[in-house]
Amino acid sequence: MAAEKWVLMVTAQTPTNIAVIKYWGKRDETLILPVNDSISVTLDPDHLCTTTTVAVSPSFDQDRMWLNGKEISLGGGRYQNCLKEIRSRACDVEDTEKGIKIEKKDWQKLHLHIASFNNFPTAAGLASSAAGFACLVFSLAKLMNLKENQSQLSAIARQGSGSACRSLFGGFVKWILGKLMLVPSQHLQEGNGSDSLAVQLVDEEHWNDLVIIIAVVSSRQKETSSTTGMRESVETSLLLQHRAKEVVPKRIVQMEEAIQNHDFSSFAQLTCADSNQFHAVCLDTSPPIFYMNDTSHRIISYVERWNRSVGSPQVAYTFDAGPNAVLIARNRKIATELLQRLLFFFPPNSETDLNSYVLGDKSILHDAG
Ligand code: DP6
Repeated sequence: MAAEKWVLMVTAQTPTNIAVIKYWGKRDETLILPVNDSISVTLDPDHLCTTTTVAVSPSFDQDRMWLNGKEISLGGGRYQNCLKEIRSRACDVEDTEKGIKIEKKDWQKLHLHIASFNNFPTAAGLASSAAGFACLVFSLAKLMNLKENQSQLSAIARQGSGSACRSLFGGFVKWILGKLMLVPSQHLQEGNGSDSLAVQLVDEEHWNDLVIIIAVVSSRQKETSSTTGMRESVETSLLLQHRAKEVVPKRIVQMEEAIQNHDFSSFAQLTCADSNQFHAVCLDTSPPIFYMNDTSHRIISYVERWNRSVGSPQVAYTFDAGPNAVLIARNRKIATELLQRLLFFFPPNSETDLNSYVLGDKSILHDAG
C-alpha cells in the first residue's frame, strides 16, 4: 500500500457527568487545577454522550477537527494542550494486516483528523465539554497506544475542561484536587498537576437503582461561561474561599460515605446543599452571576416540599452553570412518579419555560409506559 494511502482510525464513546459536589474555581487557569475536590456521577452512555473518531494518515497536512459536522478551530489553548500532552506520550503502533508501522517519533509530524458528535442537541443547553474532552483524550490515547491508566489520562482530559477528567470513569467519580502547587507550566510533571486527577469511587453497578431526569428549562446559551464565572468567583467571592477550605473537605468525606452505604437521605441532603451553595457563591460574586431562573427555583421548592411531605428525601436536585434541573430519584418507582408530577406541574412548552425532559437511565421509559 502506498504510504500516502493509509488511514488508521479509532472511535470511542464517552458519557457526560453531573457533579454532586461541585467544582467551582481554579487555582491555576492553564493547567486547570481546582480549588477543591469534587464528586460526580457519570450518566449512562445511551443519553448525553459524545462519540469521537480520530484518524491519522500521512496524507493529512494539518490537524483538523469537526464538531457535529462543522469544522472548528483547534487553535491555541485547551485543544493544543491536550494534543501536546498526548503526543509526548505516544508509543509505537503496528497494524500488520494493513502493513502500517508508526514509530514513537513519527507522531510528532503526523497530523490528525478528529470528528466528534454529541447525541443530544447542542442547543439543549446541556454541558458537552466534559464528555467531549474525555472522549477526545481517550480515543487519541487508544490511537497512539498510550500506556497511561485511566486516572493518568484523566489528568490530560482535565487540561481540556476540568469536569472532563471525571468522565473517564463510570459510576461515582472523585476529582482529587492534588497538591496545592502553583507551578506555571504547560506540561504535566510531578508536583504541578499530575496528581490532580480522577479516581473511581464505585462503579456503575454499585448504586444502579438511582435514576436521573434532566429538566431542560432553557436551551439558550448561558450568558456567563463556567470558565469566566469561576474566574470571577475566585477573584471576588469570600464565600468561595470559605467553601473550598471549610465546607467541601467535610462534604467530600460525608458524600463518599453516603455513596458507599447507599444512604440516599444523606446523599440527597448533601447534593442539594452543595448545589445551593455553589449558586450562593455565584450570587456572592461581583458582579453577581445568575444561572438559575424562576422555573429552576420553582422546581427546587417543589422537590423540597415533596421530600418534606414524605418525611425523607425521595429526590435530589442539582443545577450546574445554567437553569436546567438535574433530578436524581432514589429508585425507578420514585422516578416514574417524579416524571408524572413534573409533566403535570411543569408541562414542556408552556409558560413554565420548560422544553423537555432527558432521562439519565432509559429503563424508566419502559417503567413509565
Ligand atoms: C458547574 O469543567 O465546564 O459544572 O474547567 O473551565 O472547562 P472549565 O469548566 P467546566 O466547569 C464545570 C462547572 C460545573 C460544576 C462541575 O461540573 O463540577
